Amino acid sequence: MCGIIARIGENGAVDELMTGLRNLEYRGYDSAGIAVANEHGIEVRKREGETDALHALLSESPIDGPIGIGHTRWSTHGRPSDANAHPHTDDDGRVAVVHNGIIRNHDRLRNELVARGHEFESETDTEVVPHLVAASLDEGLDPEDAFRAAIERLEGSYAIAMIAEGYDAVYAARSGSPLVIGLDDDATYLASDVPAFLEFTEQVVYLEDDDVVVITDDGYRVTDLDGAALDRSSEVVDWAAGDAQKGAYNHFMRKEIDEQPVALRQAIEGRIDDDDRVDLSVFPNGELAEIDDVVFVACGTSYHAAMYGSRLLRRRGIRSTVARANEFAYDPLPVDEGTLIVAVTQSGETADTLASLRAAVGTDARTLAVTNVVGSTAAREADETLFIRAGPEIGVAATKTFSSQVAALALLAERIADEQEAVPLPVADGGLDRSQLLADLRRLPDAIESVVASDDALRLAERYRDADSYFFIGRGVGYPVALEGALKFKEITYDHAEGFAAGQLKHGPLALVTSNTVVIATFTGRNDEQTIHNVQEAKSRGAPVIGIGPESSTAAREAVDEYLSVPDVVPELAGVLANAHLQLLAYHAAELRDRAIDKPRNLAKSVTVE
Ligand code: G6P
Repeated sequence: MCGIIARIGENGAVDELMTGLRNLEYRGYDSAGIAVANEHGIEVRKREGETDALHALLSESPIDGPIGIGHTRWSTHGRPSDANAHPHTDDDGRVAVVHNGIIRNHDRLRNELVARGHEFESETDTEVVPHLVAASLDEGLDPEDAFRAAIERLEGSYAIAMIAEGYDAVYAARSGSPLVIGLDDDATYLASDVPAFLEFTEQVVYLEDDDVVVITDDGYRVTDLDGAALDRSSEVVDWAAGDAQKGAYNHFMRKEIDEQPVALRQAIEGRIDDDDRVDLSVFPNGELAEIDDVVFVACGTSYHAAMYGSRLLRRRGIRSTVARANEFAYDPLPVDEGTLIVAVTQSGETADTLASLRAAVGTDARTLAVTNVVGSTAAREADETLFIRAGPEIGVAATKTFSSQVAALALLAERIADEQEAVPLPVADGGLDRSQLLADLRRLPDAIESVVASDDALRLAERYRDADSYFFIGRGVGYPVALEGALKFKEITYDHAEGFAAGQLKHGPLALVTSNTVVIATFTGRNDEQTIHNVQEAKSRGAPVIGIGPESSTAAREAVDEYLSVPDVVPELAGVLANAHLQLLAYHAAELRDRAIDKPRNLAKSVTVE
C-alpha cells in the first residue's frame, strides 16, 4: 500500500533508493519515483509502471545526490500515471514529498490552495502537502516548521517524507502509516518497512503516531507535533539481509514456501517444555485462566489462519468466533472482561485490522496481536503480542506466515486450555489427543519439509490448466485451508477459484459444477467420510477431483482422481501440511500462465487504508 524510502549520506543516494524501492515493491507497484537534493536544487524522476520502468528512465536521464526520497505506489486517489506518481513538488520545485496513506481533507485543502494561486499537476491527495509547505516557506518559516505546519492541517493517515532545496535533512512524520529509521555509520534511512534498508543496516528506530522526525547524515531527532523532544531509542532487528532477498529463486513466493520448515521451527522453538507445557512468555502463568471467549479479527490469509486457530480453540472446549476485520469495527461482537480479542496480522499494519483493534480499546476485553513484525502498529497497540517469528515475507501472496500463524495459534489454544484446566473429551469419543498434538507440532517442520520437497503439485497444475473454475472444499480445519487454497489460486493465477465448506457445495455451488470445474478436496483424517460424500456429488456431475490428505487415508485416496499425500499427523495439524500442496499448486498454475507471481495485479501485501 505504497512504500516510501528516504536516505541521506554521501553522494550516491539514487542506487540505494532504487534498492530500497525494489525491496518495497510488495507494497505497491503501479508507479515509482525518486527525488534528490543536490547542487542543482531538487531533481525528480518518476514513471508509471514497476521500478524497472523508473530504472530505465534514470538510465536515460540520470540524477544523483547525497539526499533523496523514493516511492512505489499502489493507487488510491488518481489512476496510475507519470503525473500521479510520487514524489510531488510545489510550483517552484523547492520541496519534494512522498506519502503513504490517505489525506481525507485533501479536496478542501486543494481548493484553498488553488484559490491562493497554487497550480496542481496531479489528481493525488498527496500533492496538497508540498503546496502547503511552500505556502509556509513563503511566510518565512524554515522547512522543518513549514513541514510541521503542513502536517497539522492534514486529516487522515500518513507516513510522509520531504526534502527541501538547500537543506541537508529529510523531514518526516507518521500518523496511521508505518515509518522506521535505519541507522548506519555512513548514512541514515527512513522507510515504510525494515526490508527496504536491511541490506545496509540492521539498526532501527521504530517511530510512533504523531512523531515528527528530522534525519541527517549522522543521525535523527524526533519531536512531537508541538516540537517537544521525544526519546525513541534504536534496536537491532533479528532479520538478516539475505532473508529479504530472492537469492537463487525466481520468485519470493517460492522461496517463502520452501522456508516453511525454518519458519515453523522458529515459531515453535522454546515454546513447549519437556513436560508438554506451553510457555508463551508474553503471558505470565495464570494470566489466561479467566478467558472464556476468544474473538479473532483479521483479513486475507490471516483471516484464514484465524479461522483455523478458532477451530483449534473450540476443539479444546473454548468458545471462539472469527470476525472479518473489515466488519468488526463497524458491526462489533459483544465482548466483556472474559473476552480476549486476537488480531492476527502478518504485517501488523493492515488498516482494517487496526480499526478492529482500536474498536476493542475502551471495551473490557483484553487484546492480543499475533504478528510477524516487531515494532508494528498492532504490536504496539495491543495489550500483548505473540510474535510468529516467520522472518520477513515479501511475496504478496502470504505463504510461510500462514503456517507460522497456525502454529502460534495452536500453542495459544493449548496454553489457554491448560490454564483453564480444560479436560479434553476422551480420544475414543472424538476428543483431541493433546500429547500427540504437541508431539506432531514438534514434527511439523520436518513434515512440511517433505511436502515442499515433493513438489507433486506441478504435474496437476499442468494437467488441469485449462479448467473454467477451481473449487476448493474442506471440513473442520480443512475449511479454512480450502478458503486459503482458493485465495492463493485466484490471487496469482487470475483464474476463477472459490473455497467452500465441503458440505456447502450441495446448497448452491453445485449448480456451477461441470466437467470443466476442478474440485480440490482437503482431507484431514477427521470426518473424511462426509467429505468423500461431497466429492462423490461433484464427481457425479463430471468434475475431476484432486484430493489432498494423509498418507494413510485409503478411503480418501480411492474417492478421488488424483491424490497428493501429506505425512500422517493429528487431524488438527494435517491442514497446515495440505495447505503447502495448495500453495505449490497455485504457484505452478501461475507460472504456467506466466503471471507476475510476486506482484499480482491490483493487489498489495500491506493494505494500510480501510
Ligand atoms: C492483503 C494481502 C494479503 C494479506 C492481507 C492481510 O490483502 O494481499 O496477502 O493476507 O492483506 O495482511 P496482514 O498483514 O494483516 O496479515
